[in-house]
Amino acid sequence: MPAQLIGIDALSFAGPDAYLALRDLATARGVDPAKFTVGLGQHGMAIASPCEDPVTMAVAAGRKALSGFDIDPEQIGTLIVGTETGIDHSKPVAVYAHELLGLSQHCRTFETKHACYGAMAGLTASMDWIGCGRARGRKALVIASDIASYGLNTPGEPTQGAGAVAMVVSDAPRLLTIDPDYIGDYTRQVMDFWRPLYSKYAVADGHYSIECYLDALVGALNDATSQHDHAQACPDPVACLYHIPFVRMAFKAHQRYVEHCSGQALNADHASGWQSLNDDYAQRVRPWLSLNAQIGNIYTGSLFLSLIDLLRQQAASMAGQPISLFSYGSGCGATYCIGRVADAAGQWTAQLDPADDLKRRRRLSIDEYEHLIEQNQTADQQTSLTPEEFGHRQGLYYVGTRDHQRQYRALG
Ligand code: CAA
Repeated sequence: MPAQLIGIDALSFAGPDAYLALRDLATARGVDPAKFTVGLGQHGMAIASPCEDPVTMAVAAGRKALSGFDIDPEQIGTLIVGTETGIDHSKPVAVYAHELLGLSQHCRTFETKHACYGAMAGLTASMDWIGCGRARGRKALVIASDIASYGLNTPGEPTQGAGAVAMVVSDAPRLLTIDPDYIGDYTRQVMDFWRPLYSKYAVADGHYSIECYLDALVGALNDATSQHDHAQACPDPVACLYHIPFVRMAFKAHQRYVEHCSGQALNADHASGWQSLNDDYAQRVRPWLSLNAQIGNIYTGSLFLSLIDLLRQQAASMAGQPISLFSYGSGCGATYCIGRVADAAGQWTAQLDPADDLKRRRRLSIDEYEHLIEQNQTADQQTSLTPEEFGHRQGLYYVGTRDHQRQYRALG
């Protein structure tokens, strides 16, 4: 029996109202700006205020995905929020989002956690839910929502960011189908990046985390292809999308991918090999990294932000073409899969393009940024926050915790 076509039917990004330019951070830290803009490939990072949290961003992205793609909230039968940045040891971000998005009481709702891998876990779990017949014609809403925090003056500081990506998963996807024959998984217990319960900041063994990421890419890729004989080898993707903790990581990932496919590691003597890798990267990877370069690491949503970037530019010209997606979560878990751009995707580019929202963001000074980072440390214990004080005018905001309960208020 041919596999059902399941995949992504709607996509949307929402993020904080302010950002820091990495040139400003480099100047403040006494670092050559090229280290951040070229060495890491980052130009900006979205910075959340104490009133912006994984709930407010998840709800903003979820609303845009539902309204932009004309989806009735009643049609959602599963809601999964993937996040590294939980706001409660027990209560999921998802149940706040469930209420604020007006979803049905018969909607199954939960949170997934595995560092940056939670949304891919949610996407594949939703595909299984639909594929086994439990969905009864309904769709799943999967939201990735995170604030990446390493703390001031740390090596991870230039790789922070914040934002949410919402995607609706259905059996009639308008944007991307995912091929169940080419999904590969990989898991290994490693201490490359984690966040103890007592800490707001992630602990990262940065260079080791890069090695773990690259090993996981090969591991997941092997699993995706191992079930097939050579004649059915993985389709050659026209675009390769990776988890993006910082933009330059995509180059390292693509190098490992190309070396794996060719069976040959590049070395310093390989001038033509490097030239062809650079050309291939410029064609199949770099064009879809511009949103990540402006927004920074959004953990669970980073891969899907790159997918938004691809679809807003090339959805029509890539209709029917295979693309690859690689999700990596430290700790570690990973999935590599092949999707195909849907024929109708080109009709939805305006709905998923966040360019106008990004233009409206406020550029922070270093003092404002450092002040926000300090205030974010104690936001959970504040009883009364005023969103207007942080320049917020419109949207849903966290306004403090009273009687141990988080409070939210809509502005505008
Ligand atoms: N001009 C141009 N390039 C420069 C430069 C300059 N003046 N100075 C340095 N560079 C280059 C370096 O050569 C290096 O590039 P290569 O890796 O290609 O050689 C790059 O800039 C970064 O320099 P360093 O390695 O010296 O930087 P660092 O040690 O200060 O930290 C980091 C880099 C390890 C990524 C750090 O930012 C970090 O710990 N980040 C958080 C962890 C992370 O993002 N890990 C990624 C994999 S894990 C994952 O993906 C999950 C997740 O989301 C966290």
